[in-house]
Amino acid sequence: MSFASYWAVLVLGCCVACGSSGSSSSTPRDWLAEAHDEDPRDDVVRVSLRSTPKDLEIVPGSSTRMLTYSGRVPGPLIRAKRGDLLRVHFENGLDTPATVHWHGVRVPNAMDGVPDVTQPPVQPGAVFDYEFELPDAGLFWYHPHTDSVATLGSGQYGVLLVSDPSEPKELGEEVVLVLSDIGLDDNGQVVPPDADPQKILVGREGNRLLVNGRVYPTLLARSGQRQRWRVLNAARSRYFKLGLSGHTFLRVGADGGLAEHGVEVAEPVIAPGERLDLVVSPQGNSDSPLELMALAHSRGRPLAESIPHALMRIEFSGSAVNAGATPTWTTTLAPIDTSDATEVPIALTVDGADGKVSMGINGVPFGAGEELHAHIDSRQVLAIENKSVYSHPFHLHGYFFQELDDAGQPLRPLLLKDTIDIPPLARRKLAVSYDSRPGMWMFHCHILDHAEAGMMGMVDVMAH
Ligand code: C2O
Ligand code: CU
Repeated sequence: MSFASYWAVLVLGCCVACGSSGSSSSTPRDWLAEAHDEDPRDDVVRVSLRSTPKDLEIVPGSSTRMLTYSGRVPGPLIRAKRGDLLRVHFENGLDTPATVHWHGVRVPNAMDGVPDVTQPPVQPGAVFDYEFELPDAGLFWYHPHTDSVATLGSGQYGVLLVSDPSEPKELGEEVVLVLSDIGLDDNGQVVPPDADPQKILVGREGNRLLVNGRVYPTLLARSGQRQRWRVLNAARSRYFKLGLSGHTFLRVGADGGLAEHGVEVAEPVIAPGERLDLVVSPQGNSDSPLELMALAHSRGRPLAESIPHALMRIEFSGSAVNAGATPTWTTTLAPIDTSDATEVPIALTVDGADGKVSMGINGVPFGAGEELHAHIDSRQVLAIENKSVYSHPFHLHGYFFQELDDAGQPLRPLLLKDTIDIPPLARRKLAVSYDSRPGMWMFHCHILDHAEAGMMGMVDVMAH
């Protein structure tokens, strides 16, 4: 164990590493279970994932029936390197059909995990082997693409962290933070989704905030030591606006790995489905722990702002260090050439007439609309227009995009996104470069109530 890894230990409740002093047996492996790699080869990662119900202690002192991956919420952290072959043996131990979607990974279409589009759903008791190469480094995640409001709301999500050995270690010790929330009733059980149109319109938020599946865990830190927070928002609807009093963050990357360069951000916002790569050097001492806050945020009028909540406590031990300047890095990112790109209008539409909620793309709910078309090895500019007064995180499967400014130039620093917040009544232009992976690729709002209410579409990427 390296010296650095001694200090960044996330203590979950009291089951893993009691007390605030850290112990030599506590490493990050203890607080987010890692999937076991069953393949001895260096460039192949083989893991088994089993969806299964399990009672877990989400809130201390009570037991909650969760839908887990291999008994864990979040599911086991899958670690791999860029270029590795990933093989996942999935077994559906739930009593409803399921799939696994690899959010953000440039998989072949047949591995994308969309039921009845890219594969038949995996029936209860049945298995499916996912197998694909990992072309990009970054924090990716996996979740079902079936009954997503219910399944993600009960704990079906996990992360896939693909590292690139050429990234500077001095960016800090990696701490994976899976943010989510959960709606529990008075008996500590998950509230099942109902058909209440108001809840669908707003998007359901849970009444407990979770970091790595626990309420208000403690992160142990050494004052001044740089940490690299790999953050995922796995919540169904909630946006997180992060605040750490007296500190700012350096955003070094997002969904698809490191950005061209870092940007200082005081209060980064992360929408459902997005990832943030943040460098931060928490400072304090043993009598003054810090609190990571989820600050008030509005997802549009007439919705109320969310209430600020404490997400995580940061405790300090040991003597302070001076981490020095953040290292620089290089990437191979280049602006997508849009000179020959076709512009494709995509309006995000909400229809709330007659006490029913229908959401759609260009006014048409999923299933009733035509798919969009594209060709392999071509470029498009997706011109997204949010015609509603609510925010929508737009997610495209299988491909990254670059956000363009009003003049059609990519925003700097360059970075790769697969999910992006589209604020109320806003327009955004997203450049996509299709490679040679044809197939039917979904796009949808990652507020899962909205997706299920119809705000989904597909682009058929065709070979010539
Ligand atoms: Cu994480 Cu189709 O989504
Ligand atoms: Cu939405």
